[in-house]
Amino acid sequence: MTGHPKTIFVLTGAGVSAESGLGTFRDRGGLWARFDPMKLATPEAYAADPDTVLDFYDHRRRGVVAAEPNAAHRALARAEARCAARGGRLFLCTQNVDDLHERAGSRAVTHMHGELLKARCCACGAVTPWRADLSRADDCPACGASGRMRPDVVWFGEMPMHLDAIEAALAAADLFVAVGTSGAVYPAAGYVRQARSLGIPTCEINLEPSDNADAFDEARYGPASEALPRYLADLGL
Ligand code: OAD
Repeated sequence: MTGHPKTIFVLTGAGVSAESGLGTFRDRGGLWARFDPMKLATPEAYAADPDTVLDFYDHRRRGVVAAEPNAAHRALARAEARCAARGGRLFLCTQNVDDLHERAGSRAVTHMHGELLKARCCACGAVTPWRADLSRADDCPACGASGRMRPDVVWFGEMPMHLDAIEAALAAADLFVAVGTSGAVYPAAGYVRQARSLGIPTCEINLEPSDNADAFDEARYGPASEALPRYLADLGL
């Protein structure tokens, strides 16, 4: 990529938050290596055993609340501000359900897999900020229904959020960057090929080659807290 990109689409995954102490999914010892996602992250699992599913997300929510953003989150927040100051845009699309991008200072974050610090009422659909544990004894603050609150995250078999805005941002980008994602979960895993078919240069920043590594024009391998700030600095951001 030569010159300053004006409109950058950044896709982040669990690897960006790994150095903040939040577990990834598919690395050795990752969440899905230890737990069966079909028993914890599907609507069917929640219907069959809501307490086990809520406990799993309570544990993860406590981890998010205790975690701090790292240098990768901060570099993206800085780059967003610098792009905007130049009249450009950095569109930050994350698969992460934590709020570390926001706490690092990113202003606009599109959470395609939802947000763990929000709860949704299955009765009325209202979404409420939620930092505490969630139980079937909780009432919906909006409609008062009891026992119908779930984490506002996307489970397997459900539609990711904000897909129209994401597609539009991807089509408008002049650079696509994926950071800390294994390329195993669609539709996010398909964005690199979509970008390439639109003629947009692509770069992967990851600890190791992802499942999609051969689809990228460029790659930088290393911990996100080091590789990403260096890459953004090379772009003048
Ligand atoms: P994965 O756990 O599948 O992949 C994380 C990637 O980050 C791997 O390729 C690691 O090599 C890399 N990685 C680990 N530590 C890193 C570091 N310090 N710096 C840079 N890279 C590092 O996580 P995702 O790709 O985000 O969805 O997973 C996608 C979705 O699958 C998640 O959003 C979640 C999960 O199931 C749902 O729950 C719906």
